[in-house]
Amino acid sequence: METVLSGIRSTGHLHLGNYFGALRNYIKMQDEYNCFFFIADLHSLTTHPHPADFHAGVKTILCEYLASGLDPEKSAIFVQSDVPEVSELYVLLNMIAYKGELERTASFKEKVRKQEDNVNAGLLTYPVLMAADILIHRAHKVPVGKDQEQHLEMARVLARRFNNMYGADVFPEPQAFNFGSDLVKVPGLDGSGKMGKSEGNGVYLIDDEKTIHKKVMRAVTDSGPTEPNSKMPDSIENIFTLLKIVSTPDTVAHFTEAYNNCSIRYGDLKKQLAADICKHTLPIRERIEEIYNDEAYLHNVAKRGRELARESASATLKEVRAVVGFKSF
Ligand code: TRP
Repeated sequence: METVLSGIRSTGHLHLGNYFGALRNYIKMQDEYNCFFFIADLHSLTTHPHPADFHAGVKTILCEYLASGLDPEKSAIFVQSDVPEVSELYVLLNMIAYKGELERTASFKEKVRKQEDNVNAGLLTYPVLMAADILIHRAHKVPVGKDQEQHLEMARVLARRFNNMYGADVFPEPQAFNFGSDLVKVPGLDGSGKMGKSEGNGVYLIDDEKTIHKKVMRAVTDSGPTEPNSKMPDSIENIFTLLKIVSTPDTVAHFTEAYNNCSIRYGDLKKQLAADICKHTLPIRERIEEIYNDEAYLHNVAKRGRELARESASATLKEVRAVVGFKSF
């Protein structure tokens, strides 16, 4: 069985884009692959979160993933810093990662532009830590968005370089997981691009009914079609895209027809959209709250995840140490 691995940043909350774009696929993958899902808390230290908030960020994301359907009985779900083997592999991979290639990654260049007062070495070697995450479990497939493709390429480069340097076949080269027709692109509510954290255009899994209605009612629209069968502007098309994700085909057909014969009332469309979003997210919201308050459950999940991850990681590290030439006295 092939191994799939995905790392999740421990900042913010999950929105509909995360849920329909990625998570719903992860949930299915759990039955077909040997899955590792972890919270990348070490990576999040590059932005220096306050110690008082650090754990809460990890806990929030863990609860939201579990509530969405990641299943600790099927997958290894763990916290990156609970697996010290990752940090050791990171040190070893740093020895074969070159400053020039790290400086050339798009994400690093962007950080240098955006946070010039905190260009730390952890940012420079961010892709090396990510490669360690992936290679320590010898993952074959990694589901990544566009923004992470270059990092995955770096993991392949380092795997190849390590294997060549030591004449050993320790690491498989990880490939991007191709969702094919399962890939759902979730647009935001502001009429522009996709739903994202920073854009403030998202609906979160923890939003309550009132918040969801308010957000959806505020979504950007126009003054409505004036001619039958006219082409939809982006903002309206986005609303229909969301409707297709959360509503029944009948509902979509109803509003499409209303648009095409110019009888559509955007207020009704939005009310329906908000109600159908709620149908998906409110049960998850309830589970998030339950899980959040169940310390014993969370303790067991993290413990089980840590055990599974360390078992796999220590087997890899043992081989790595041997090929590098470590020997005990
Ligand atoms: N860098 C990823 C992101 O920002 C998170 C991540 C860390 C990751 N390690 C990983 C993703 C390993 C996949 C595999 O989204």
